[in-house]
Amino acid sequence: MTVPLLDLVAQYQTIKDDVLAAMMAVIERQGFIMGPEVARLEAEIASLSHAKHGIACSSGTDALLLPLKALDLKPGDEVITTPFTFFATAGTVHNAGGTPVFVDIDPATFNISPRAVEAAITPRTRAIIVVHLFGQMAVMEEILPIAARHGLALIEDGAQSIGARRKVEGTWRASGELGTVGTLSFFPTKNLGAWGDAGLMVTQDDALAARLSRLRLHGGSRQYMHEEVGTNSRLDTLQAAVLLAKLPHLNAWNEARKQNAARYTSAFAGHADICPPRVDPANDHIFHQYTIQVPRRDELQTFLKTKGIGHAVYYPLALHLQPCFAHLGYREGALPVAEAAMHSVLSLPIYPEMKRDQQDAVIEAVKSFYR
Ligand SMILES: Cc1ncc(COP(=O)(O)O)c(C=O)c1O
Repeated sequence: MTVPLLDLVAQYQTIKDDVLAAMMAVIERQGFIMGPEVARLEAEIASLSHAKHGIACSSGTDALLLPLKALDLKPGDEVITTPFTFFATAGTVHNAGGTPVFVDIDPATFNISPRAVEAAITPRTRAIIVVHLFGQMAVMEEILPIAARHGLALIEDGAQSIGARRKVEGTWRASGELGTVGTLSFFPTKNLGAWGDAGLMVTQDDALAARLSRLRLHGGSRQYMHEEVGTNSRLDTLQAAVLLAKLPHLNAWNEARKQNAARYTSAFAGHADICPPRVDPANDHIFHQYTIQVPRRDELQTFLKTKGIGHAVYYPLALHLQPCFAHLGYREGALPVAEAAMHSVLSLPIYPEMKRDQQDAVIEAVKSFYR
């Protein structure tokens, strides 16, 4: 049996009538730019994120870039972040005129280490970007006071964590709720995926919300009046319609992912070679990825390929070692936890529509490799 890493066609079959009807409403109206669906999506996602404002934009990358632009970084200004993430987290720092400063991660969750963040703060530091990697949140209650003490902005890259929560002092806090700004990506493979590129920012701050709305519309709050130079980063109304039609299913999809994760974890429990993902007990993890750590990872990949079992390595080269950041001067060995992770991680199929016998085939294939 072959099992794909993700099966978007299976999801499409379950929702296509609703999504196509929502798209047709936009098409019949011929209202493609900043239609009412965009504002509705902003309100719905803000509410899901326990945030006052939602500002839609054209991608998860722009959702990071615009708040970084709002910091008005000067050359040499530093933004501390994790090297174990998708490229956009740090690429946007560079594109906003700042310098990414990479610090090591926690070996259990792969999320940024609060102690490493604090140790990296200099007089040039302006912001911290945490990434809630694979769907589980970073240790917000430790990073927030660090940011506050040093007067730094705290950006939550929530591209992989829509619907994730963390219990802080007895209260569930949503991804994007506590930081200066929280970002989301609706890239088609995300837990809530558009049918193209799409992103969104959430914040509690009225002035920042107004500025971000301006920056995505060429820096103008009124047509043909530009208080500053922004860009075109509008969210396509058709994508907003797709996302609104899919949103009522998000909770059930996240729950199905959690159930699949629990099934894998009990199947791998006690295995000498397979280390299942470790969930911080304070987290409600939405399993955008189910990522194991294994010895002989590359050989396992080759084996799974021959068996037709989907898998992926997120991420094979940590960002501090990327050729484009060579000028920053990081050497191999500089961030050992992230570097160990990049050699041992493997993500397995976890999508909500995966059938039981498909999951059994994945479990059997992985276990048989280590027999
Ligand atoms: C952690 C992280 N940050 C940022 C992004 C960028 O989002 P997008 O692809 O929508 O630009 C992604 C996803 O691709 C991501 O996984």
